Amino acid sequence: MRAWPWLFVLGLALALAAALPARAEYGDVVLDQTSTKAGVRPVVFPHWFHRIRFRCKVCHSELGFKMRAGANRVLMDDIINGKFCGMCHNGQVAWSPDRCDLCHSGKPGIEPGIRGDSQTKGPGKW
Ligand code: HEC
Ligand code: HEC
Ligand code: HEC
Repeated sequence: MRAWPWLFVLGLALALAAALPARAEYGDVVLDQTSTKAGVRPVVFPHWFHRIRFRCKVCHSELGFKMRAGANRVLMDDIINGKFCGMCHNGQVAWSPDRCDLCHSGKPGIEPGIRGDSQTKGPGKW
């Protein structure tokens, strides 16, 4: 009798703990360490779009993307040389780095970080 409300509370706490990090996995990530400064639009990375196609470890271990929005310093030279996004956006696995606008699609002045909670919108929407 007295045990189940605690189980309920515990269940709720676990559900919340599971829900919080999950939220960050959805949505899009706006990257702007260098873009605006260099005179191009911020990058919109549709996280969910990629997550459903690839395993986390492909990016977060093999390609070296740190799991924190804003934590990665990605340079265009690296991408063209096949690192980070360029591991796939090389004209083979996915379209090539000359499609600037598909990645640099953030509206000028947009804050970097996670956009859209459970939504993912892709190029040009933020
Ligand atoms: C596959 C996605 C992708 C494509 C395509 C792409 N970029 Fe980038 N680019 C990035 C990312 C990610 C960054 C780092 C974003 C940041 O933190 O500001 C970046 C950064 C840059 C920067 C900042 C300075 C530097 O040298 O890194 C410039 C300038 C730039 N890109 C220009 C371009 C141009 C011009 C094109 C087309 C010829 C292009 N990008 C295509 C993803 C892309
Ligand atoms: C195609 C590459 C790719 C895949 C696959 C991928 N991620 Fe990410 N993830 C990224 C990038 C890029 C960022 C943004 C990093 C930045 O802003 O510097 C990111 C950011 C994150 C963040 C940080 C969010 C925040 O709020 O700071 C978490 C957590 C995360 N990913 C978890 C996951 C999990 C879990 C999976 C698999 C289910 C996954 N990612 C799959 C590339 C990927
Ligand atoms: C593990 C492989 C992989 C990596 C790494 C990767 N992408 Fe992609 N990306 C893809 C594939 C595959 C597609 C789908 C291509 C197609 O539809 O032809 C795609 C599509 C996209 C799209 C279009 C989404 C849409 O709605 O059509 C954007 C924007 C994009 N990637 C940006 C990035 C950026 C920015 C990075 C680096 C931060 C990155 N990608 C890293 C594989 C990757």
